[in-house]
Amino acid sequence: MSDERRSLARALRHHLEGLSAFGVSEVPLPSGEIAEAVGVTGSKEERLVRLTEEVERCRRCPLYRARTHAVIGDGTLHARLMFIGEAPGREEDLQGLPFVGAAGALLTKMIEAMGMRRGDVYICNVLKDRPPGNRTPLPEEMEACLPFLREQMGIVQPKVICTLGAVATKALLGPHVSITKVRGEVREYEGTPLIPTFHPAYLLRNPAAKRFAWADLKTVKKLLEE
Ligand code: URA
Repeated sequence: MSDERRSLARALRHHLEGLSAFGVSEVPLPSGEIAEAVGVTGSKEERLVRLTEEVERCRRCPLYRARTHAVIGDGTLHARLMFIGEAPGREEDLQGLPFVGAAGALLTKMIEAMGMRRGDVYICNVLKDRPPGNRTPLPEEMEACLPFLREQMGIVQPKVICTLGAVATKALLGPHVSITKVRGEVREYEGTPLIPTFHPAYLLRNPAAKRFAWADLKTVKKLLEE
């Protein structure tokens, strides 16, 4: 984004925050002027291309040094449901696609159990690059990568978000949130309903927890049908 656009975006945010302080919660947008002013132009596909280029250029944390591929996302940009996982693993790093290993196979089954196909949803992660040895992402890595996830949410504009596991849930709801406490609850991220559930990798290690994840997915399905 150019400096001019950045300062327009800042001024616009300031203006909207002022309106919000006075209780204004909705503003009718005049044509595409505002979107253009803040640099949000082009189709979903064009925005994804720009995002992909940005991720591939990213040097905000050292993870880019060891990657084979940055892993952006998979599925349709027109999805009503977005799944967000933690970070690419070994297989995802090699293929450049999220959730293609064992946890991915279970996620695909979970989606199919909901009566959908994997291609009907959008799947991505908090981190776009694999942490060494699949260790848990560091707070600074999550902070560096979050703008990319937010842009993906802005592009897809899902009706419902489902976070998979503690990392994605903390990234969007706050670092002190516990997945075992909040799973299945209907929370919100910037106006979009968000339901946290267990990560498929956790479910592979703890099959007894699958019934809880299924209950959570039924909540997701109900929200999608509303
Ligand atoms: N686990 C994740 O959180 N994401 C992937 O893409 C694969 C495994």
